[in-house]
Amino acid sequence: MKHRSVSIILIGAFACVLLACSGNKGGKGTAKAEPSLKEVFKKDFLIGTAINAGQIQEKDAKANETILKHFNQLTPENIMKCEVIHPGWDKYDFTLSDQLVEYGRKNNIAIVGHTLIWHSQLSGFARQLKNVDSMKMFFENHITTVAARYDGKVKGWDVVNEALNEDGTMRKSVFLERLGPDFVTEAFRLAQKASPKSELYYNDYNNEQPKKRAGCIELVKKIQVAGVRIDGVGIQGHWHVGRVPFKDIEESIQQYSALGLKVMFTELDIEVLPRNFQGADVGQRMTADSTTNPYKNGIPDSVLQQQARDYEGLFKLFLKYKEHVTRVTLWGVNDGQSWLNGWPIRGRTNYPLLFDRAFNPKPAFYSIVALKK
Ligand code: XIL
Repeated sequence: MKHRSVSIILIGAFACVLLACSGNKGGKGTAKAEPSLKEVFKKDFLIGTAINAGQIQEKDAKANETILKHFNQLTPENIMKCEVIHPGWDKYDFTLSDQLVEYGRKNNIAIVGHTLIWHSQLSGFARQLKNVDSMKMFFENHITTVAARYDGKVKGWDVVNEALNEDGTMRKSVFLERLGPDFVTEAFRLAQKASPKSELYYNDYNNEQPKKRAGCIELVKKIQVAGVRIDGVGIQGHWHVGRVPFKDIEESIQQYSALGLKVMFTELDIEVLPRNFQGADVGQRMTADSTTNPYKNGIPDSVLQQQARDYEGLFKLFLKYKEHVTRVTLWGVNDGQSWLNGWPIRGRTNYPLLFDRAFNPKPAFYSIVALKK
């Protein structure tokens, strides 16, 4: 009698488990069927995305679900830039950056700090420093305070962002003007001291282009010869559909890694809208006319297919050089969030990323996942 009731209970429990499992697989509103990017590329490189303030604060459930499912690295899109984190000479605001670091810690996601020294999105007070000693003091205080706070808590730092012109010479920034060309080496020296447990990177756009690349290599060698640590170079990767410079990218991976550096693709997006210049200078703008926003009511499948082939070609290269390519970071979670809806013309409808505005995977997503099948 006792034996029979135990069997009935066991059979009942087994049936419940079966029901629960089939419900999970087939039922509505359950987890999405698409594979997780971070799982797919687990053995190859980190796969990251840039996130904004609302996403750090988990305000959008769908964005949060996508971030947690697909990415094992995060870069703050804006909130660690000088104008946010260091708004006045004696004033730092770590509210959002502390939240980001905590979000990464609790979800086991690596954070990369972006960025310590950049001429753009620099606080007004710093931009206006005319005196060399004041600029030196700002430079040292800023790097030391920010980098030390997150030492070892971030995987790495974009120590210097965009110090070069297209021809490989140094950009005429407020740092070059006040501090001279050694400011890049000095920034790395200060970051190394303040943050010995995090990696240190130089980051730029178009530094896969031969002339700018040569300038970048010169900059890196100068840092190395000074006996200062630099761990990697970031190629931002803001490219255009149908015009991805594959050959330059491959040569760049080879040449940067020959310097003993890790290579990272740090701000990847492949935009689809008309542009009359190359690169990602946030200060550069374009005028709108009747042809500049062609896909406001939807994008032709042919363009999405070309974009899928471009992403596929890129990831093929990243996989070929996976010993050197340590990270690939998309610049935004989905098309709706992309900065390319607002730059270089405000109010356009762009489609540069792997997830559409409803967080559904696009053809580009499936093309890169298929490489690992
Ligand atoms: C962009 C952000 O995505 C925008 O939200 C902001 O208005 C301007 O900056 N290169 C970089 C990034 O290094 O920090 C820039 O991010 C894009 C170009």
